[in-house]
Amino acid sequence: MKLLITGGAGFIGSNFIRYWLNKYPDDKIVNLDVLTYAGNLENLRDVEGNKNYKFVKGDICDADLVDKLVKDIDLIVHFAAESHVDRSIQNSEDFIKTNVEGTRVLLDAAKNNGGIRFHHISTDEVFGALSLNSDPFNENTPYNPRSPYSASKAASDHLVRAYFHTHKLPITISNCTNNYGPFQFPEKLIPLFATNLMEGKKVPVYGEGGNIRDWIYVDDHNAGVDAVVKKGKIGETYCLGGENEITNLEITKNILNLMGKGEEMIEYVSDRKGHDFRYAMDITKAKKELGWEPKLKFEEGLKKTVGWYKNNEDWWRKIKTGEYMKYYKKQYNENNK
Ligand code: NAD
Ligand code: DAU
Repeated sequence: MKLLITGGAGFIGSNFIRYWLNKYPDDKIVNLDVLTYAGNLENLRDVEGNKNYKFVKGDICDADLVDKLVKDIDLIVHFAAESHVDRSIQNSEDFIKTNVEGTRVLLDAAKNNGGIRFHHISTDEVFGALSLNSDPFNENTPYNPRSPYSASKAASDHLVRAYFHTHKLPITISNCTNNYGPFQFPEKLIPLFATNLMEGKKVPVYGEGGNIRDWIYVDDHNAGVDAVVKKGKIGETYCLGGENEITNLEITKNILNLMGKGEEMIEYVSDRKGHDFRYAMDITKAKKELGWEPKLKFEEGLKKTVGWYKNNEDWWRKIKTGEYMKYYKKQYNENNK
């Protein structure tokens, strides 16, 4: 099988490529990534020499490029997105371009080239926010996105389903909860807090830290995507999650413990605008229909993840100083002269 992975130089996509090449070493992967601030070829150093792996620097909004790339592709797994809620609050322009228009371009390329199997990676945030006592989201929860990021992801989900109903494009969608693990960009809660502490800086907890997220280890998410791709029913959506709800403050205290730091390192800062209170996912359908469930316990996963950031200072320090942008893009341009 030959796969087109979009956004494979980002956090989840790079872990997915590593996961897939390990599990299906005869498959071929083309990774299309434009290398925004979040894309980093260092995430894929260990696979770049693999003869079944190819990187293409390009934008999913570039219809001519995408149309050429999909010619001999059997499966598209679409990760590419602007992914950070806080950035979407500052400026939503790139979110609409990449998440909505980019998805449309990929769908048209899949449709116009014989109806290529298309799996769309989405998020729990499209369903809105839960109160403390309400039931978790499931596949039938009405959409109610509340940030520009989640609104753009919701729009992309609707487009993907519309291409199934209108054009019979063979699609599936997975909506997953908060991922954590190696190679996550240090703007997101876990890597930001772990690396701040290594730099001797405080950790900025929004509001009072009472907001709740459901965390899943990135390889468990990717195993779920694998299960949907291989066993999911065409046209269907599958909710994936870690069954692990925890407040931001609890998670912060866990990270402080693992780093041997005290609570004086917490800095309570202004809350995120429109901050969604709680996300949680009912994953019964994926368990029953796909035989999938998350495996790694959160305490173990968090320890492993914090350990990874401790052992990979070079990776995140280059990102935090901005050096990675100059170095990797220069190197890529030189390799491709
Ligand atoms: P990320 O920000 O780490 O990576 C995104 C990647 O997409 C980067 O490599 C970037 O260069 C690339 N990209 C962005 N715009 C592009 C464009 N126009 N053309 C080509 N490439 C482009 O994101 P992530 O956290 O790995 O998330 C991947 C996907 O998973 C996203 O669709 C996101 O909405 C979804 N998701 C993320 C989480 C999470 O917790 N991180 C949870 C559920 C779903
Ligand atoms: O739920 C899935 C989503 O999870 C994905 O779709 C998004 O791409 C991903 O970024 C993530 O969104 P969140 O907003 O939940 O993740 P983030 O790591 O930015 O924040 C997690 C929680 O921690 C949230 O309640 C806000 C809070 N937070 C975050 C940061 C960066 C802080 O308190 N301080 C911070 O500095």
